[in-house]
Amino acid sequence: MTTAAPSVQTRELSDAPDWWRQAVVYQVYPRSFADTDGDGLGDIKGITSRVPYLAELGVDAIWLSPFYPSDLADGGYDVADYRDVDPKLGTLADMDELIAQLHAHGIRIVVDIVPNHTSDKHVWFQEALAAGRGSAARERYIFREGTGVDGAEPPTDWESLFGGSAWERVDDGQWYLHNFDVSQPDLNWDNREVRDDFLTTLRFWSDRGVDGFRIDVAHMLTKDLTEPLPSRAQLEALPFDGTHPLIDRDDVHEVYAEWREVFNSYDPPRTAVAEAWVHPSRVPLYASAESLGQAFNFDLLEADFDPAQFRRIVADNLALAAESGSSTTWVLSNHDVVRHATRYGLPDAERGADGRPTRKHGNEWLLSGGETPVLDTARGERRARAAATFVLGLPGSAYLYQGEELGLHEVAEIPDADRQDPTFFRSPGIDQGRDGCRVPLPWTAEGSAFGFGAKGAHLPQPAWFSAYAVDRQDGDPASTLSLYRRALDLRHELQTDEQLQWIDAGRDDVVAFERPNGWTVVTNFGTESAPLPAGEVLLSSAELTGDALPAETTVWLRRS
Ligand code: GLC
Repeated sequence: MTTAAPSVQTRELSDAPDWWRQAVVYQVYPRSFADTDGDGLGDIKGITSRVPYLAELGVDAIWLSPFYPSDLADGGYDVADYRDVDPKLGTLADMDELIAQLHAHGIRIVVDIVPNHTSDKHVWFQEALAAGRGSAARERYIFREGTGVDGAEPPTDWESLFGGSAWERVDDGQWYLHNFDVSQPDLNWDNREVRDDFLTTLRFWSDRGVDGFRIDVAHMLTKDLTEPLPSRAQLEALPFDGTHPLIDRDDVHEVYAEWREVFNSYDPPRTAVAEAWVHPSRVPLYASAESLGQAFNFDLLEADFDPAQFRRIVADNLALAAESGSSTTWVLSNHDVVRHATRYGLPDAERGADGRPTRKHGNEWLLSGGETPVLDTARGERRARAAATFVLGLPGSAYLYQGEELGLHEVAEIPDADRQDPTFFRSPGIDQGRDGCRVPLPWTAEGSAFGFGAKGAHLPQPAWFSAYAVDRQDGDPASTLSLYRRALDLRHELQTDEQLQWIDAGRDDVVAFERPNGWTVVTNFGTESAPLPAGEVLLSSAELTGDALPAETTVWLRRS
């Protein structure tokens, strides 16, 4: 393995065991990041080639979405082998080189672990199909007999989270449970072999130098499938108090206690962050030091650009973090939701609680083909910059999603024939799916696939991507990329302990807080200018004129 000298100014890799507490973590969706072999899919070498970009951006770590062998039935969240690299993306040697390059540039790496389900191409599922009913191979999954005449009806009326039945019938007549796509059979976490195999996987990547793990649907692994199984209506009537048969069961933490032993056997201990869509009161269980250690806080994904909501979410999540002893996480976008520049540019009525549009738009989202474009792109970007600089001033760790540093919008104009996301196919016409935030990044304003790769991109990039390309923004002090670079740089300088003191700005549309050493963050969420508080201006998300804080703008100040 060769480790080339870093070509841009880099930070030292921190040895502190708690490096993660206030880290800025950049999510790389590998198939849409950078393509070096010209097959239209991003690859591991593409990420390695962009490590200097990540170092210059100033992130502390990357979170790499699944890069394992996969049929891509769910964008890689259908894993066929947890201890290998998808040949379409590269090799284990490429991963070793990526890890080495990241570390040489002072950047840690967190990888995605998908333990609720495998791909139906996983050797275990293939064995289960071949071995037949009653076999040990079927015991690794959740197989049941059907109901009705000849068992032709599914065991229950449960629905998959992606739409349609949660059960699929196999050739010999049995049914298997899949809470997600039909290609993602749920594993049986009562099975000791399943538990042991994931311990092996965690050690495999930890031994290769991976620093931490993001745990996919961490709240769904363990299940109580005692017969008779409840109906959907019965399930819906049950409380989520740790005893629900399918969701957020207390006994899932027995699994994580074993994982914790593995994490703590490394120096520094490996970290984990739970993707757990659970009631807020249950989040500290996942974030505790005995369990996964940190949990995502998704509240801002569901919030409007609204001062009262932002303030409440910050207060609530700092309190929850204090309860678990962990630090909280701030997330404005990820690979599952509409990009926040677009959410903030849509009228509230045009999007649901999860940020997705409530009805199908077309190109009129982004193009002014109609009389009135539904999306106000400039306003969305302005608010996105204000929200990002608000979040980057908070204590705790911030998760950025690739492309948000460019102010990228959701791509609405993907023809149905080009769509890939199973949520689109399993709920035809209702949900546009998540492809619009997964379109390959524009690196250059000109050239093949905007610099993503030599031969196009696996999801079509719109012409307007040109204006957002990295090379357009590089060196432009007013660009969103420059704003993120400056914010991350300053954050490194200013960030000390995790305290936050609210400041009364004297008006409802302005939210302000102070961090240690006079670092002050003030956001005007309103549509009118507000007075600019006293202090040395360190950063502003929009141009300042005179002593006013413009509408929809965040400033960082140093108060003396
Ligand atoms: C998580 C992932 C999502 C995936 C699902 C099933 O929610 O973030 O992308 O589809 O799990 O693995």
